[in-house]
Amino acid sequence: MPAELRLGVPGPEPDLSFHGDGELADGLTDLAVNVRPGTPPPWLLDRIRAAAGDLAAYPDPRAATEAAARRHARPPSEVLVTAGAAEAFTLIARAFRARHAVIVHPQFTEPEAALRAAGQPVHRVTLGGDFTLGPGAVPPDADLVVLGNPTNPTSVLHPAAAIRALARPGRLLVVDEAFADCVPGEPESLTRARDVPGLIVVRSLTKTWGLAGLRAGYLLASPPHVRALARPRPPWAVSAPALAAVAACCTPAATAEAAAWATSMDAERTWLGQSLSRVPGVAVTPHACASFLLLKVTPGSRVPVPGNSSPESYNVPIDHGGPTVRERLRAAGFAVRRGDTFPGLGPDWIRVAVRDRGTNDRFVAALTAVLEA
Ligand SMILES: Cc1ncc(COP(=O)(O)O)c(C=O)c1O
Repeated sequence: MPAELRLGVPGPEPDLSFHGDGELADGLTDLAVNVRPGTPPPWLLDRIRAAAGDLAAYPDPRAATEAAARRHARPPSEVLVTAGAAEAFTLIARAFRARHAVIVHPQFTEPEAALRAAGQPVHRVTLGGDFTLGPGAVPPDADLVVLGNPTNPTSVLHPAAAIRALARPGRLLVVDEAFADCVPGEPESLTRARDVPGLIVVRSLTKTWGLAGLRAGYLLASPPHVRALARPRPPWAVSAPALAAVAACCTPAATAEAAAWATSMDAERTWLGQSLSRVPGVAVTPHACASFLLLKVTPGSRVPVPGNSSPESYNVPIDHGGPTVRERLRAAGFAVRRGDTFPGLGPDWIRVAVRDRGTNDRFVAALTAVLEA
């Protein structure tokens, strides 16, 4: 078995239905939900409100489908607009029956939950080390493979070539790109890869545009796959305001706005990562590319295992008594995302969103104080 794999991680079964908003409470600074601050922008709200003026009509997905197709240089027959990325995972689980479905963890838990809800057995491949995808990570007979890029919660961006190498005839390869527009220029995105057999790329408007409550996203796949995915869904599954949002967010102007934000967020994430790496007891997962960082936090000082620089390998004392670091951060006013509901992680892991410099600075100070206490 390749060194980076751990199959069947011991410990209690994680709650796959837990999400970052479960951490929020009045008075806490939200570092648990990875939605771009200050969104949705006013111009986008105007478009959504305008669409709400025509609610007497059934929704028509054509303009949104064409806009998404134009954005990714594909024909409209290769686009299916969905009620968020979550609907895409449900459609995949309902439309296809896998003999050997593999979820590459740690990752967003809804793809696994959707497959299980559809009665499909799921095999977990759990990346360890620095959470990068090595050759041989996925069993050769897997006929459905799901991974995130960049991945939630690790923030790791896999090279497009490594993902392409997973494709083979008879296999569906699902890439969750819900956070792809966090990466300036989206160099590893596979949205335009029409030559990869069985590829389904899933995109979301939730994170960059602040539209979790609207339910808007889309998927890109070959025309037969798009048709198969559309078959089990009810008619008019995506509302007219959500379709208007998809059309609006796929224009060159919206893409440029997202790219400008991604560039500034990228610089701030680098600063936050460097600052947190200097805090004793914190190991920052390397190669972060999304709008959040995954941290291994342990009271006491870090002791890297000789010859292995990955955060997972740090040989640190585990404090099993008293409140966890996450709970102590809550007492200090910060909601962070617990790591233990992600298969492959445990209670020593937390995920934090990248915010503005003032908030990030306050968080570094709070975490330092919590770990020193
Ligand atoms: C990696 C990832 N994919 C997809 C989603 C869900 O996106 P949507 O709101 O479009 O269903 C989330 C939400 O947290 C996510 O983290």
